Amino acid sequence: MGSGELRKRFLEFFKERGHSVIPSSSLVPGNDPTTLFTGSGMQPLIPYLLGQKHPMGTRLVDSQKCFRADDIEEVGDNRHTTFFEMLGNWSLGDYFKEEQLPWFFSFLVDELGLDPQKLYVTVFAGDPKNNIPKDEESIAIWKRLFAEKGIEAKDVVLDTSEKGSELGMQGARIFAYNAKKNWWSRAGAPENMPPGEPGGPDSEVFFEFTQVEHNLAFGQNCHPNCDCGRFLEIGNSVFMEYKKQENGGFEKLVQRNVDFGGGLERITAASNADGDVFKIDTLHAVIQKIEELSGARYESAFQQSFRVVADHIRGAAFMIADGVLPSNTERGYFVRRLLRRAVRHADKLGMKQGVFAELVSPAIENYGEQYPEIKEQEQLIKETIQKEEVRFRETLAKGLKEFEKLSGKGISGYEAFNLYQSYGFPLDVTLELAKEKNIEVDRDGFQQEFQKHQEVSRTGAAGRFKGGLADASVETTRLHTANHLLLAALRQVLGEHVHQRGSNITAERIRLDFSHPQKAAPEELKKVEELVNEKIQEGLGMIKREMSKEEAQKLGAEMEFGIKYGDVVSVYFAEDEKGNVFSKEFCGGPHVKNTSELGKFKILKEEAVSAGIRRIRAVLD
Ligand code: SER
Repeated sequence: MGSGELRKRFLEFFKERGHSVIPSSSLVPGNDPTTLFTGSGMQPLIPYLLGQKHPMGTRLVDSQKCFRADDIEEVGDNRHTTFFEMLGNWSLGDYFKEEQLPWFFSFLVDELGLDPQKLYVTVFAGDPKNNIPKDEESIAIWKRLFAEKGIEAKDVVLDTSEKGSELGMQGARIFAYNAKKNWWSRAGAPENMPPGEPGGPDSEVFFEFTQVEHNLAFGQNCHPNCDCGRFLEIGNSVFMEYKKQENGGFEKLVQRNVDFGGGLERITAASNADGDVFKIDTLHAVIQKIEELSGARYESAFQQSFRVVADHIRGAAFMIADGVLPSNTERGYFVRRLLRRAVRHADKLGMKQGVFAELVSPAIENYGEQYPEIKEQEQLIKETIQKEEVRFRETLAKGLKEFEKLSGKGISGYEAFNLYQSYGFPLDVTLELAKEKNIEVDRDGFQQEFQKHQEVSRTGAAGRFKGGLADASVETTRLHTANHLLLAALRQVLGEHVHQRGSNITAERIRLDFSHPQKAAPEELKKVEELVNEKIQEGLGMIKREMSKEEAQKLGAEMEFGIKYGDVVSVYFAEDEKGNVFSKEFCGGPHVKNTSELGKFKILKEEAVSAGIRRIRAVLD
């Protein structure tokens, strides 16, 4: 089945059940400063989930354009894309679990004809700390629905991914996970939600691709949330009935909502029982065009490049249609990254010169009916892509030469930044080239140079890369606080000579570079890890104090070498109620309020960066 047909059937299915079809919002959020792009169907509907009346009623259905910038580096496997469409149906204080789960199940099984034997579901295991019960109602509904298809559905509690890989499937069909997996809000788990944020337990449906063998790299046993590719999440029903309170607790929203989101491409892939989303019609049309213009074949060692080009060209087309043009700042930088990375991969495929912009034609053709803007802006899209290609090519050959010169050794932050500034290589391109040559790039150094430059040119991007943070998401904020604890613990265990020499924090991990003459011994790292966890458990407050730079220095607050600070600085203290200070650091934030919000801290790796500088990668579980 094609994705256009599937989208139509989804909208129709819910129209028959009293829903009004609403158009997709722009990829550029209208009124949400917390994010650069629309990344889920519920973002544009927030006011209505909170109780405002929607002009189209209380039952809505749509297909929302989404862009997830975080996934750029993941593109290349069989399921990650930056741009995707999220099918959504919405109850704004109307129906709830009793209607939602049977409807979605019926859509998959009766309407699309999916084999119910290949469907597995997850539910919320409960959160005693916040007094939110296990979702027994959904369990009972799922049992009944599977029983109607002659399937006995056993339920088990897995709680976490770690336990999941330890315990495995156990012959079950319904799996309860904790809030990390089965709770949805824009900010993630309950403790990460700011006051006023709506959220709730959710229930996800997974499709099993039986031809995919479990991959042991993802854990001992497979389970729905394993991520090895055997199970693919195809839909998520969020029962949005809670709101975070000022005091940290939860209250019921004024209405009980359903927020359902399902990846159109993933559902199409499931209905074709082929786990490669690049084989569905819309993406495959682009792949075929690439084959035609390059002479290379998709079913070959070049598959990854095909996927990068197909995803990026489509994503860029939708961005340009929504008015985002390539530039060096904010949103425009993402379009630039998409296009330049795609040009390089197209070259790898041996694509003829001067035809790059033509690749966008199948995407415009296939999406024009559903998203008229892409058809209306066809000329602008093609011209923009072509111009960006030409501009990149002006410096590409020289840049590659320069890269060759550097590639005997690692690439410093300054060199990576120079490749960007003088030759237009976004960091992604440099990283990929480096990977092919098996050499290291100093990412943190690049970010620092980038930041310095942004500050000089006073662009909006400066604020977004503050302090080496990839973004200001809640996960990133938590890891940022953990970074402070880690530095203080390193200084306690290894000695006062330890200072920060760079840090890069994303929503997934910390990367901290610090001064230390030799490798840290395993026992030392263990001590550091234990100390950080101890401080998390003690629940230290993260307190910000403004003071003069001299005063802060006198107090011995940590400051990063090579960074310029103003005369009045803010210092973050991690301290207990009695005022015992564990860490004090010059820092602009953001941080969590209390270290108890961090969970379990874990060091993954310690390695050398250069003489006298070590690097630690760490995560929060
Ligand atoms: N908000 C949920 C998600 O993005 C369901 O739409 O997964």
